[in-house]
Amino acid sequence: MSTTTAPEKIYAEAADFMPLLGTDYVELYVSNAKQAAHFYQTAMGFQPLAYAGLETGLSDRESYVVQQDKIRLVLTAPLKSGTEIGRHVDQHGDGVKVVALWVEDARSAYNEAVKRGAKSFMEPVVEEDGDGQVVRSGIHTYGETVHIFVERKNYNGTFLPGFRPWNPTYRPASIGLQYIDHMVGNVGLGEMNTWVNFYADVMGFTQIVSFDDKDISTEYTALMSKVMSNGNGRIKFPINEPAEGLRKSQIEEYLDFYEGPGVQHLAVATDDIITTVRELRARGIEFLQVPGTYYDTLLERVGEIEEDLAPLRELGILVDRDDEGYLLQIFTKPIQPRPTMFFEIIQRKGARSFGKGNFKALFEAIEREQALRGTL
Ligand code: FE2
Repeated sequence: MSTTTAPEKIYAEAADFMPLLGTDYVELYVSNAKQAAHFYQTAMGFQPLAYAGLETGLSDRESYVVQQDKIRLVLTAPLKSGTEIGRHVDQHGDGVKVVALWVEDARSAYNEAVKRGAKSFMEPVVEEDGDGQVVRSGIHTYGETVHIFVERKNYNGTFLPGFRPWNPTYRPASIGLQYIDHMVGNVGLGEMNTWVNFYADVMGFTQIVSFDDKDISTEYTALMSKVMSNGNGRIKFPINEPAEGLRKSQIEEYLDFYEGPGVQHLAVATDDIITTVRELRARGIEFLQVPGTYYDTLLERVGEIEEDLAPLRELGILVDRDDEGYLLQIFTKPIQPRPTMFFEIIQRKGARSFGKGNFKALFEAIEREQALRGTL
């Protein structure tokens, strides 16, 4: 068995020259920020937070910021042709551009990363308004994705300088999403270890789990994955690469349609997955479905769980157990025209793993979708 789960002490052993307090925000470049914000409000329960655009003096782009508990999404679109954002959307479709990390000291984080080999995206910049001061800096990671370090200890504003509060009357209720549990990157064939080493060497992350193609393969397709975690375990980045299979894997399909490496899924946590998923479905979110037979032997595989089986079966929620407890999870279908990014909804009940026991059923479900798209 190639799977290893790290004990607590490995977190402490990680060289924490770059203390990260958490995910600050995730910025998506999209073709229509206004409609994307409406989607995240209406379908996924995010609350309106901040806006920047024509009304704040920008002429080339606009951004809507939405928030649900600790999760902040920035949806940015161009307002004219010939912009970098427009080029990004043209090449990749809607997708994650920035995974922003909350730090105590954005200058130090930047210097430590660049000293260790990171490619600079943005030198430290001080941004200021009447609510105080924010320092941001940034480095490149896989594909065209970047990390921006955000130091906001001297800031009391709504989001960032340059944004104003966004207070529409339209406010559908939250659906109980709490924080980003992990964010997965897809990289090219043979590149997984390059990016695993990047997170280890440049950012002081530790590898906590590894899956090879024996763990993650079906009759047709396979992939390999390693999970990198920062020192305090708040940031977890699994990195996937395709593995040799009879047909085109979901990772290759992603790389083809995204035209390069990028963020594959955001796993967002809830403490009541049945209520959350029921609400998401009612609001039109579509999920991958495993066959009903998955549930016939579920309790034999995972042992006793607190939830009733009926709603799990009805909603298609998956369950897996590790040494420390169990977890419940479900995956949406891609949320934009290209079969690229999707969401995972996850509820942890002790388990710190990633649902390995569900991989086969899940990947077969993805392959059924690929077959419908003609991309398997
Ligand atoms: Fe995941």
